[in-house]
Amino acid sequence: MIIPMHILLEDAKKNGYAVAAPNVFNRETIEAAFMAGKELKSPVVLDVHPVHGIYECAEIVRFYEKRYPEVAAALNLDHGSGYKVVVNAIHAGFSSVMIDRSTCPYRQNVDEVKEIAKIAHAVGISVEAELGHVGQGNEYEETRDSGLTRLEEALPFIEETDADCLAVAVGTSHGVYKGEPKIDFELLKVLAEQIPVPLVLHGGSGTGDENLQKSIRHGISKINLNTDLNEGGIAAIKEACDKGFTRILKGKNDDEMKAARMNLQMVFAEGAKGWKEKLEYYMKLFGSVNRI
Ligand code: 13P
Repeated sequence: MIIPMHILLEDAKKNGYAVAAPNVFNRETIEAAFMAGKELKSPVVLDVHPVHGIYECAEIVRFYEKRYPEVAAALNLDHGSGYKVVVNAIHAGFSSVMIDRSTCPYRQNVDEVKEIAKIAHAVGISVEAELGHVGQGNEYEETRDSGLTRLEEALPFIEETDADCLAVAVGTSHGVYKGEPKIDFELLKVLAEQIPVPLVLHGGSGTGDENLQKSIRHGISKINLNTDLNEGGIAAIKEACDKGFTRILKGKNDDEMKAARMNLQMVFAEGAKGWKEKLEYYMKLFGSVNRI
């Protein structure tokens, strides 16, 4: 069932685990996320980036929501860049929206998040905002320190905007890190102590299992994942290609066996399998198994 994201994150915050938020982008990844949730009895946040089609993904999610009614999931817009795209996501049926104005001046970020929160809350939809800025891994060494969330801004930001959760910049980065990830656990700890809403960690990939688990212990309730899941899918496709991708099918008679030719459906299926295995690995690491 698709439910507002704050319900999932508040349970995670209360019980000391984190919900995995994979970037889903097509039928295969959406079904794989539901299947992982069902098999592990884990909540999941389906994060859809605008480039992957808000209306298209919402339709696919509605289809699989009916097929996997036992899975508690949120459908969240990832990195909504402004009013129009966020309102489109609300219109498309998302249960949560991120309005990311983290590169704007503080006052503009506050004003835009506040406006969206008013609209979203009127129809029962959760809001994620970002304060400080989580940058890109390829410029990690240059940008890591300049974007960290400032404690003195965080509390007034939440009070004024009424956002339901906050993405914080504490040393993670999107994509592949250039250099070693260095998390500011002291900053994270005080942010978690002072901010009443659940905290979100963007850039989960490549951060390292220990760093992620320690982040959860220090107050993170949702971890966004994209790159590592994609790499899991690509590795599975490569492995299948190396093996020649043959699959033995039973013919009409039991003794009649034939090798199936490699086709595109098989490539997509292998990719989704590798992607799902990586997601399940992270669900276990984050302690979200058997929570639904
Ligand atoms: P990664 O690709 O580093 O996992 O980041 C994903 C993300 O934060 C999406 O919002």
